[in-house]
Amino acid sequence: MLLNRYSEGRNGRVTVTNILSGHDLIDSLEISDDALAEVSLILKMRCDFSMSSYKDKCMKRRVAIRMRSCRCLDAAEYCNLLRQNEQELDLLKKALTIHVSHFFRNPSMFEKLRISVIPHIFQNANTSQNQIRFWSLGCAGGEEAYSLGILLQEFFTRELIHKPVEICAADIDADILLAAAHAEYNEDRLKELPVPLRESYFIPKGAQLQLSSKIRRMVTFCHQNIMDVRSFEPCQLVLCRNTLIYFTRTEQEKILCGIAHILPADGILVLGKSETLVGNARALFAAVCPVERIYRRI
Ligand SMILES: C[S@@+](CC[C@H](N)C(=O)[O-])C[C@H]1O[C@@H](n2cnc3c(N)ncnc32)[C@H](O)[C@@H]1O
Repeated sequence: MLLNRYSEGRNGRVTVTNILSGHDLIDSLEISDDALAEVSLILKMRCDFSMSSYKDKCMKRRVAIRMRSCRCLDAAEYCNLLRQNEQELDLLKKALTIHVSHFFRNPSMFEKLRISVIPHIFQNANTSQNQIRFWSLGCAGGEEAYSLGILLQEFFTRELIHKPVEICAADIDADILLAAAHAEYNEDRLKELPVPLRESYFIPKGAQLQLSSKIRRMVTFCHQNIMDVRSFEPCQLVLCRNTLIYFTRTEQEKILCGIAHILPADGILVLGKSETLVGNARALFAAVCPVERIYRRI
């Protein structure tokens, strides 16, 4: 199965390369107007949620994402699931309304990474290891992955000379990934970014601000389903924030166990403020900083 990898070249152009993945993403999945109307009716009847104030194209994309996550092959199968499953109804509602992110979201977590987590990762890096890898899972418009890039560039330049860091960022939404690779943002996405960093790393582009190519080049975007995280490239740090909330508890457990699979002993996992370890995954991690939802692979 071919997946797309988005990267920024030295000339500033975004290239899309096909890469292989073991998971069968249903890329051709199409939601017809009738199917969307059916989903909309179910949402209205069962939880009084109205889709009418949103754009159809956007809604179709979000419904398709949930269908893929549930591994439904067509809209009829998904509508049946929606009629029977309260939890999926709730998850769809969340997916339709939330794909929000911003730079340095939860700044205190990034501060913790800067002060104690990342220095440890560099110290513990194996001498035979050529490169360190970080993953941002459910990366949306790239804000989280790029924040890691800025953090490294600002505070770890010396370490980067000896141990380069590859930042990989995955999302199931191909359109968001394309936007992420272009890295042009509205002001509101930069609200947590200190002014000096904003001045150093962004330049105005029309009504938006574009991230400097120096940071863009540090991140590789991958069109991948985090349900398949077990097959992702191993790494030392995983940020999986505000994404698990869209999944059922059973799926959350599978994803967390998959993340444990790609982390070495002492590798770090960061979850969102309202997320936590569930099921068997609890035995695979120890808390490093419970407040910031930072965990260490046992
Ligand atoms: C709310 S955003 C989180 C952005 C960022 N991690 C943060 O905390 O600011 C959730 C993202 O997860 C993505 N997502 C949902 N299901 C996914 C899946 N199965 N695989 C990969 N990404 C997924 C969505 O497309 C969305 O961009």
